[in-house]
Amino acid sequence: MPHRRLKVGLTRKLPDAVEARLSALFDTALNPSNTPLSRAQLVSLAQGVDVLAPTLGDELDAAFFDQAGARMKLIANFGAGVDHIDVAAANQRGITVTNTPSVLAEDAADMAMALILAVPRRLVEGVRALEDGAFTGWSPTWMLGRRVRGKKLGVIGLGRVGEAIARRARAFGLSIHYHNRKPINPHIEEELEATYWPDLDAMLARMDIVSVNCPSTPQTYHLLSRQRLALMQPHAYVVNISRGELIDEEALADAIEKGNLAGAGLDVFEKEPRPNARLSAAPNVVLLPHMASATIESRIEMGERVIINIKMFADGHKPPDRIILGLA
Ligand code: DGY
Repeated sequence: MPHRRLKVGLTRKLPDAVEARLSALFDTALNPSNTPLSRAQLVSLAQGVDVLAPTLGDELDAAFFDQAGARMKLIANFGAGVDHIDVAAANQRGITVTNTPSVLAEDAADMAMALILAVPRRLVEGVRALEDGAFTGWSPTWMLGRRVRGKKLGVIGLGRVGEAIARRARAFGLSIHYHNRKPINPHIEEELEATYWPDLDAMLARMDIVSVNCPSTPQTYHLLSRQRLALMQPHAYVVNISRGELIDEEALADAIEKGNLAGAGLDVFEKEPRPNARLSAAPNVVLLPHMASATIESRIEMGERVIINIKMFADGHKPPDRIILGLA
């Protein structure tokens, strides 16, 4: 199929350079207003395109695919996470789904590291104290946090992002521990001097800081459940830049309020865009509005992955970033 005739629908505004390149290569339907499309608008867009480029927040479930018609054959997601897409339902209808892995890993890891530093060192509390006029001068016992160096970081899901976090954390003197379904490549494990914990519960009980880095799937829903959070030490912190659904937020709020956990740094929430009210109110919780990958460089490179996937598909090849179920 020649590129010119391929119709590509974008559900949200993408960086100008990405939209310009897409429009040069394909016949595009853009969303310049950047307003999220309603379900009816999404369906109508999908019915008239060969390729849909959705993003986080566009709920593409089985019912959507039933309504979307037969023309659309590729979902080129702008983003790494595809938990908003029923990939099995898409595949059953002959629709390929791709994402944008790797390109955002380093920027996302920077933000995780920022939270790993910010929460124990009370960075945001310090900024607020200054803004509120509570700083009356240096004091030996005021605003004491916890040292980061020498602590144990437990990474749940040591993939691309987890590895990038681990590299940064080592530079800050943390030791690396991880839980995956299987151990990682032994060379990388050796380089990171990382300890593999086949038993997540056993790891949680020993860590000082836990970073959650896995995809959101039915199997990982509330992976950090009330029972698991209860295994953690009272001086421990939780950091999450992946998906809010991985943590039972009410249980996390209970643990923090009761002093059973020392704090949390969260870039994602269970019910975005609304953060959990109790976590918002907790002084030892740093909340960010899902911005871990929000650099212009990441967003342009994410757009480039979208373009590569569409172009390969248009040329009759398998797009490189196909989601292959069972491998996530
Ligand atoms: C993703 O790519 O899934 C991120 O959460 C958006 O930055």
